[in-house]
Amino acid sequence: MASLEYYVQESQNLAVLGETASYIPALDEQDPSQFAVCLIDENGNQFLAGDTSTSFTLQSISKVISFIYACEEMTLDYVLQYVDVEPTGDSFNSIIRLENTEFGKPFNPMINAGAITITSLLPGQNREEKFQHLCDFMGKMIGKPVKINQEVYESEIKTADRNRSIAYYLKSNHILQGDVESVLDVYFRHCAIEVTVESLARIGLILSNDGVDPITNERFFSKEISKVAKALMLTCGMYNASGKFATFVGLPSKSGVSGGILSVAEHEDLQGLQGKIGIATFGPAIDPIGNSVAGIEFLKRISIEYDLSIF
Ligand code: DON
Repeated sequence: MASLEYYVQESQNLAVLGETASYIPALDEQDPSQFAVCLIDENGNQFLAGDTSTSFTLQSISKVISFIYACEEMTLDYVLQYVDVEPTGDSFNSIIRLENTEFGKPFNPMINAGAITITSLLPGQNREEKFQHLCDFMGKMIGKPVKINQEVYESEIKTADRNRSIAYYLKSNHILQGDVESVLDVYFRHCAIEVTVESLARIGLILSNDGVDPITNERFFSKEISKVAKALMLTCGMYNASGKFATFVGLPSKSGVSGGILSVAEHEDLQGLQGKIGIATFGPAIDPIGNSVAGIEFLKRISIEYDLSIF
C-alpha cells in the first residue's frame, strides 16, 4: 500500500496542469506549484505534508460555514424558504436559472447565488455585526481568532461585477434580504477569511462527527444541520464537477477558487488515523471548473487506495 506522502508528491506533480484563479487578481499571485495536506482524526492524530504553514483564503469553502451558521441561528426551515437544495450542473457563478425558476429561488447554498442569499440571512443589525458573529462561530471551531486577507478582499470587491449582477437580480426577486452592497461586503469578507490546512481540517473533523468536536467534546451545530450540510457538499460542493467527484472520490467535499478543498471521511486505519477524519488540501492551481487539480488528484487516489468512498 502506497503511503500518504507518496500521494502528496504524485498529486503535487500534477499541479502544472492547472492555473491560479485570475478573475480575482490577488489569487493569481499565489504560487501554483504549492501543495499542502492535513488529515486529523477523532483522537487528534494528524498527518501533515507539504506547504502547511501557508495561509489561503476560504473563498467558496466559506459557503459551508455560512450555511451552517445561518441554519443554526435562523432554523433550517427558515433558510430553506430562500434557498433550495438541488444541484445545478452549472458553473458556480451562473445566473441563468434565477430567471427560469418560480420566485427566482437559488438552487443551492453552494453556488454564488445561494451563498449570497444565505449571507443576507445571517443574524446581526449591520454588516459588521453579521460578519463578526460568523467569525466568532468559526473562531470557536478552529480555536483561534479569524482574520481576513485584506488584499484578496479588496481585489474581489474591485472585480465583482458578476456577483453584483447576481445580488441585484436576487434583490429584485425579493430573495436577497436587506441592502445589496452590505450583503456583498459580508460575502466578500467571508470568502477572504484566511486558514491553514490544519484549521480547515479541524472543521472537517467536526462535520465528520456530526457537529461535535470529538477532541474537546464541544458541540457547534446540530446533527440535523450537519447531515444537510454534508449532503449539499456531496451533491453541490464541487460545482459542475460534483457528479464526477461523487462518483470517483465519494466524500462530502467543498472547494474554493483559492485552491482549498475541505473533505470529511471515516476509516478504521488510514495510515494510523482512525474513526472520524477531517481532510483539508490546498493547491492553488485550479482546473477550468474552479477545483484544485492537485487536491482532486490526491483525494481521488487516497479514496481508491483506502476505499474511503461513502458508497
Ligand atoms: O464569489 C466568488 O466568485 C469567489 N469569492 C468564490 C468563488 C469560488 O470559490 C468558487 N469555487 N470554486
